[in-house]
Amino acid sequence: MGKQRILSGMRPTGKLHLGNYLGALSGWVKLQAEYECFFMIADWHALTDHSNTAQISKDIEEVLIDWLAAGLNPEVSTLFIQSHIPEHAELHLLLSMITPISWLERCPTYKEKLEMGSETNYGLLGYPVLMATDILIYKATRVPVGEDQLAHLEISREIARKFNYLYSRVFPEPKPLLTKSPKILGIDGEKKMSKSFNNYIALGEKPKVIKEKVMRMFTDPEKIYLGDPGHPQKCNVYNYHKIFGQRLGEDVELISRKCKEGKLPCTTCKANLANVLIKTLAPFREKREQIQREKQMLYKIIKEGREKAEAVASSTLREVKTAMKMLY
Ligand code: TRP
Repeated sequence: MGKQRILSGMRPTGKLHLGNYLGALSGWVKLQAEYECFFMIADWHALTDHSNTAQISKDIEEVLIDWLAAGLNPEVSTLFIQSHIPEHAELHLLLSMITPISWLERCPTYKEKLEMGSETNYGLLGYPVLMATDILIYKATRVPVGEDQLAHLEISREIARKFNYLYSRVFPEPKPLLTKSPKILGIDGEKKMSKSFNNYIALGEKPKVIKEKVMRMFTDPEKIYLGDPGHPQKCNVYNYHKIFGQRLGEDVELISRKCKEGKLPCTTCKANLANVLIKTLAPFREKREQIQREKQMLYKIIKEGREKAEAVASSTLREVKTAMKMLY
């Protein structure tokens, strides 16, 4: 039995952060051992809400460097850029013809954008069709995604089903692969970690910046004076200790106890956390710097990824056209 195939993608948001690592990247790295993996930088998807394209190529490069620094291995996985494979655009067009607009208008991400009053466009409405294309063109059976993408994936399954019913069975129905990951809030302690909220710690962050960012974090709002008992369960800083400290052998029970007894000043606790994060991210930083020095390698990786992806995509597209009796 061959390995099952995975496809997943990330929009090119530039340098990745701890939230991206915990939520997706660390899971992808592990999946490489068990699955045949295709990992894609979704640059066309980025255009749905960005008409400013000047920064995209730099952002793609940063994502790729972080992928490699985190342990995605181009020797075993196919790493590629969506727009390098024009077959996606062609299949997207064909699939758009069998996708009812009502499916797309029902999609929560689209509805949110409408409610927020943001300007919407044709591409944004079609976001899930493009995502379905990304997955189906590789006949991926599993798609590691976060919960926010489940509705999109459901549409991929529906499109696959409808195509198979109308023409012939070309596509497997892709299933989500939900990896359990610890939830992390941004350093503001309020929102999900995100570039757009500017509440992130980047994987390649310099030690000095990590320290500054951590020292700015809010702790338990009820612990005002030194000596007040703290409530670690409600404290974002403690949550970070639990997630990152434990891996380095930190005694988090002791931190919790000392905090509750009012014997652990928040500044000390944060300074300790800064050290934990500096240590955790040291290997990334080193690998990142090494990759920066050998940048030529990136072009080679992306070229090879393009060739491998292209071979699969063009073969599926042929099958699709055969099924549709459109090879003439
Ligand atoms: N929409 C995904 C996100 O924003 C990115 C993406 C594009 C994707 N194509 C995909 C994810 C295909 C999984 C499969 O996170």
